[in-house]
Amino acid sequence: MLDYLGTLERTHMCGELRAANAGQQVVVMGWVNRRRDHGNLIFLDLRDRSGICQVVLDAELTPEGHRKGEVVRPEYVVAAVGKVRLRDKDAINPKMVTGEIEIEATELRVLNDTKLAPFSPAEDAIQNEETRLKYRFIDLRRAEMQRNFWLRHEITRAVRESLSGQGFLEIETPILCKSTPEGARDFLVPSRVHPGEFYALPQSPQIFKQILMISGFDRYFQVARCFRDEDQRADRQLEFTQIDLEMSFPRQETVFGVVEKFLAAAFAAAGVSLPTPFPRITYDQSMRQYGSDKPDLRLPGLTDVRPAFTDENLAALQIDPALPVVAFRIPSVGELSRKEREDNWPMFDKNKGAKFIDDFKRLAKGFPEAAVKVRELAGATDADFVIIVAGDPAHHIKASDTKFEGRLSEREINVYAAAGNFRTELAKKYADRHGAFKGTEGVVAEADPRGGKAIDGSAAFHPIWIVDFPMFEYDVATGHWVPAHHPFTAPHEHDMPNLVSDPASVRANCYDLAMNGLELGSGSIRIHRKDVQQQIFASLGISEEEAKARFGFFLDALEYGTPPHGGIALGLDRIVMLLAGAPSLREVITFPKTAKAIDLMADAPTTVTEQQLKELHIRTVLKG
Ligand code: AMO
Repeated sequence: MLDYLGTLERTHMCGELRAANAGQQVVVMGWVNRRRDHGNLIFLDLRDRSGICQVVLDAELTPEGHRKGEVVRPEYVVAAVGKVRLRDKDAINPKMVTGEIEIEATELRVLNDTKLAPFSPAEDAIQNEETRLKYRFIDLRRAEMQRNFWLRHEITRAVRESLSGQGFLEIETPILCKSTPEGARDFLVPSRVHPGEFYALPQSPQIFKQILMISGFDRYFQVARCFRDEDQRADRQLEFTQIDLEMSFPRQETVFGVVEKFLAAAFAAAGVSLPTPFPRITYDQSMRQYGSDKPDLRLPGLTDVRPAFTDENLAALQIDPALPVVAFRIPSVGELSRKEREDNWPMFDKNKGAKFIDDFKRLAKGFPEAAVKVRELAGATDADFVIIVAGDPAHHIKASDTKFEGRLSEREINVYAAAGNFRTELAKKYADRHGAFKGTEGVVAEADPRGGKAIDGSAAFHPIWIVDFPMFEYDVATGHWVPAHHPFTAPHEHDMPNLVSDPASVRANCYDLAMNGLELGSGSIRIHRKDVQQQIFASLGISEEEAKARFGFFLDALEYGTPPHGGIALGLDRIVMLLAGAPSLREVITFPKTAKAIDLMADAPTTVTEQQLKELHIRTVLKG
């Protein structure tokens, strides 16, 4: 028999009771986390969002409450009325924040029962993610998930407060709109009123936020939902949230200052201090040093070991002498057997025209001097796993050799990138041995987002700005230069004359923010002049008609007194993932999609009725 709530009013949350509350009459409500039956005494661990407290049902004090306590099971919803008392010394539980007290119940109301759940939220580790996602409503009850979303709330709030304090207005932009220029595939929404026509869901509010600058809002931000039909990964979801901002009359430095301030505030809200200003590095430096434009600074970078080899060495090793020879080391891995090394091989990206040497014993036998020098240059100890990555003359992939003074060519970048990817994969694989990622876990576990002293995050979190990206990338498939970013990104002013004659040399006025190997954010100073925008379209081979069809309304707006402007968007989900110490975005998004783009709980996507399709003037053509 279930009880009604009646006039019962909750006085406290379970997790907030302390020794100081002893003697108080309280009413708490929540789920039965665990139940222990000691005959005349039944103990219920009662759980709500704030935590857990112990309720004692004494058969003598409350015979009826005790009787109900015999039938309740984990995840029943109950209300307990009683007095807070200090526990006996030997019954104190130092692991619980409420471990010094318990509630001596005088009444128990059973507000609801439950079907037997497929897993218990009281358990720490539930392995099967599919079950977790299908029964997400139960999964979200787990303390870890409650903490993640509480953290997400605190972070979002801190960002909102910081940006509001810095003069930004939070303004919403449409969800049903026209295709935006982010370069992923759009989600389309058919229009019922306009047969055959479609809205696109925004990949980001990019065009709208630029228009808001034309409209004189000066500083805009939005916690904006974005939609991209792209392959899912641990750090990618179909729908995700950006902290999106745009400002008028900024220099790059202005944007950096704003972001550093709100990110430091977000980290502080999670109990972690993040020193500012963040270091910065050019794209070329980042590729040379880390083989990546989102470098992970927690491990040693790449070393140029070309000087360790003579030309004869390189010829004998079948290494392309015109391309970089780079080495990296994964610390403390220890000696690996051939079999162990072979298991690593599939992680190497062969499509970049590079090869690798991971067998130092053989290298030392054939080229003893080179081997010693490589270790020396890379600063490797005997326990480090050292890998050399170099150009493969036998696998000369199509790429541009165009090179501008002091800058990297595509082919060189490919070698660095192959090394960088391999480094990241191996670092993940051997994380237990090198321990470099442990610092992050430690800080996340120790930080107290509920206030108190902030933990120093400088050793665990490594933000870095990447600047001076190339404006164009060479598309091997088509032989064309394509924009590396959206086509509203401004080129460096003094690279403008090379736009058509030497596109490889043109640097973009854009920047990324990376942290611990993750791209957290990306932005740019925009083109605000119609003549420059036209030149960019021309250099990209976008005709006037095409530009008009895709971005006509925006190009029109550009002609009406557009101020210089720029901005950035940071992935909120990714920030929360880092601060929660979570392995995937799915841990910090309430109802995420699986790798196969399915919402297992809601069972979406699904088919719709013929009638719905008819109204939308759509017919589906299914194979098989
Ligand atoms: P960009 O496309 O680089 O830039 O996105 C900015 C940031 O958004 C996050 N992000 C994602 N997070 C989760 N899942 C995804 N599928 C996903 N895609 C992107 C990343 C990324 O750094 N309009 C521009 C910004 C600008 O120029 O102001 C833009 O959207 O953290």
